[in-house]
Amino acid sequence: MEKTTMTDTCTYVIFGATGNLSRVKLMPALYRLEVAGRLSDTTRILLLGRRPWDREQTISEVREWVNAKARGRLDEVVFKRFSQRLDYFKGDLTGQEMYPRLKSHLTDSSAFPENIAFYMAISPAEFGVVIERLNDVTLLEEGHSWRRVVIEKPFGYDLESAQALQRRIGRHLREDQIYRIDHYLGKGTVQNVLVFRFANTMMEPLWNRNYIDHIQITHSETLGVGSRAHFYDNAGAMRDMIQSHLLQLMTLVTMEPPVSMEAESLRDEKVKVLKSVRPISHNAVHAYAFRAQYGEGMIGNEKVSGYLQEENIPADSVTETYAALKLYIDNWRWRGIPIYLRTGKRLAETQSQVSICFRHPPQQFFRDTQVERIKQNWVLLGIQPCECLRVEMTVKEPGLEMRTRQSSLDANLRETEDIQTDAYEELLLDVIDGDRSLFLRYDEVEYAWRVVDPILQRWSMERDFIHTYPAGSWGPEESRFLFEKEKHRWRHGLDPEKG
Ligand code: BG6
Repeated sequence: MEKTTMTDTCTYVIFGATGNLSRVKLMPALYRLEVAGRLSDTTRILLLGRRPWDREQTISEVREWVNAKARGRLDEVVFKRFSQRLDYFKGDLTGQEMYPRLKSHLTDSSAFPENIAFYMAISPAEFGVVIERLNDVTLLEEGHSWRRVVIEKPFGYDLESAQALQRRIGRHLREDQIYRIDHYLGKGTVQNVLVFRFANTMMEPLWNRNYIDHIQITHSETLGVGSRAHFYDNAGAMRDMIQSHLLQLMTLVTMEPPVSMEAESLRDEKVKVLKSVRPISHNAVHAYAFRAQYGEGMIGNEKVSGYLQEENIPADSVTETYAALKLYIDNWRWRGIPIYLRTGKRLAETQSQVSICFRHPPQQFFRDTQVERIKQNWVLLGIQPCECLRVEMTVKEPGLEMRTRQSSLDANLRETEDIQTDAYEELLLDVIDGDRSLFLRYDEVEYAWRVVDPILQRWSMERDFIHTYPAGSWGPEESRFLFEKEKHRWRHGLDPEKG
């Protein structure tokens, strides 16, 4: 979704500006938008935090964050221009005292453009209160200018809390002012799922239960819980990855063609998929979902600790760092086709991939020859790090005998000279442009919670045991119990030998 023009002028107010998300993603992404010449000349960025920084210190901190991402190749001229947009505002976001001051700061002079995007890079527990306080001082009121609020995931902790949060913020904001982020939708390779399906006619006729045997969507990471112990131990892999990113990917892979690529049409189709997911009853949770936790092991040549030995993780935690889930979409196109979603930390490799396995041919034509049992076709969509597309086919081996082997058609989605962009660049720009197609509408979030809620409830009652897997492995063997057919197996990446 390429942008070619300069955007509206606006003020980006970043709540939680000294935190990790702002350092690692938001400020580097805004800087790259500056490099690309995508920010209007008068756009300003107000960093808001509790630390006693002045403008000079803010600029020097931001310089370091941006430089770390630019791997030392910071363009000084561009950064100077970027730094002129920056300003810092100190305040405690849960107290009432700060908001009238913030309002005067933003509106008393003409220094800040009147269009304002408030970015909530803060703890989810604070979303509601900050929005209420902004409303109290009328900063959410739109006149000739727009006011938008960007909310990071997770939106709620479960179905009930998501509904409560929606009720709370819905009193002060219209749906079209709310930008719920799922950064996976900003990834070019994730958007490519739509292009692959709907800009080519070749695959779409096959994209259904008549030709597809099953679908796998995997996100694996070699990293552990790192410095996010508190957040992660309260969330776990199902909430952190599956409820959001992997279910979103699943909707793109399985949805019907939308009326157009415009936000509402796109989101209507995604919601239909989520509504069609067969509900998992409490008693059936173990047949559909599997969880586990990493123990100590090796990542490359390095020995790493188990989850329970990580800093700030309670010794008796049963939070899952690995989750796998089998879903069925009960609609005309997909009924009866298993869709396996899987994610984990401290696994053997870092990668995200959609793997589509096609059915066997209806007849074994080469029965009387020396052909071994024909293998199934796969279409693999590499999301990261390999941004690629692979179609695996069976072909005849050269020679006098009728033997077959597997061959693949490979396409790289990225040429070496292509510009590398980060998901946040596109999303930050879309907020200014008012394009909500890559953001989540509330009903998408709600239906995604409905899919995982019964599992989370059941797991929260089972506090005595959790399977473990050695760090650096592909997760526990027992996850195979989810497979509908004996012949199903996890596909670990592009190489067919790996899984
Ligand atoms: C985040 C999760 O939303 O996505 C993290 O909270 C996870 O736990 C990350 O590591 C993965 O994102 P990416 O872009 O690195 O695949």
